[in-house]
Amino acid sequence: MAPSPQPRLAGKTALVTGASRGIGRSIALAFADQGAHLALTATNEQALQQVREEVLSRQVECTVLPADVTDAEAVADMFSSAAAWRGGLDILVNNAGVYVGGQFTDYSFADFDRLMKVNVYAVFQLMQLALGHMQPRGSGKIINVASTAGKWESPNQAAYNASKHAVVGLTRCAALENASRGINVNAICPGLVDTDMLQQFQVQADLLDISLDELKAAALGRVPMGRFLQPEEVAHIAVYLGSDESAGMTGQTITISGGMRMG
Ligand SMILES: NC(=O)c1ccc[n+]([C@@H]2O[C@H](COP(=O)([O-])OP(=O)(O)OC[C@H]3O[C@@H](n4cnc5c(N)ncnc54)[C@H](OP(=O)(O)O)[C@@H]3O)[C@@H](O)[C@H]2O)c1
Repeated sequence: MAPSPQPRLAGKTALVTGASRGIGRSIALAFADQGAHLALTATNEQALQQVREEVLSRQVECTVLPADVTDAEAVADMFSSAAAWRGGLDILVNNAGVYVGGQFTDYSFADFDRLMKVNVYAVFQLMQLALGHMQPRGSGKIINVASTAGKWESPNQAAYNASKHAVVGLTRCAALENASRGINVNAICPGLVDTDMLQQFQVQADLLDISLDELKAAALGRVPMGRFLQPEEVAHIAVYLGSDESAGMTGQTITISGGMRMG
């Protein structure tokens, strides 16, 4: 009988933001399936503890470090704890994100500010902390969850669209600066994924004067595969980007969208 292959992330330690549900939870479980130890963060501690139980059942270690990523001091403390937990971090997954729709001319400054703090400022801060930690080690992987909205146009979501374009920009800049330092920085750009975030499309539906179900049906009409993605499908790409298999890849923005966007 052939020996079973080594898990693809065996012995690695990863910090995953937005790990309490949706895509972040799926990334945490997929990483655990491949032998990674997990530091999990989000604001909902109870939900994080549930994910921790699921991770622990996969025979890896897991710690829960609740933090609101809009609180820079809390993020700095959380990162220090994650880095100290097992003596170093190999992988950072910047996944936490929020969606607030609205027409450009009606969009409030407060909503724009709140969304940017979660989707951009926190990503910048955690990338900066991770790079400072990884550079002396001469290795590391940073994976940012952006969106197809980070590469293409999309209506009635100016802040979200701008925030995800910013994540793509941060990814490329950090990738270039760190390519010779053994650090890979890449982004995943999902299309429509079946998570709680889709409920936030209600604002879009209201703007078009249709129901949320009608809006979802219309959105699926633009997906050649005719279905929403499952969060696990995004997690598979994160495993690849976290593993040695992607050692030669940096600054990339990998699209997974059921064919909705190509390129
Ligand atoms: N679903 C999609 O169709 C889709 C498509 C493209 C890209 N994305 C991106 O994928 C990522 C994950 O989205 P999802 O679909 O899994 O959404 P989700 O189910 O709404 O999960 C969002 C995650 O972000 C965390 N979060 C939100 N605000 C936070 C804050 N202030 N501090 C700390 N954590 C915070 C949430 O945790 P708590 O509530 O516990 O704080 C939760 O774990 C996001 O960056 C999103 O923009 C999603």
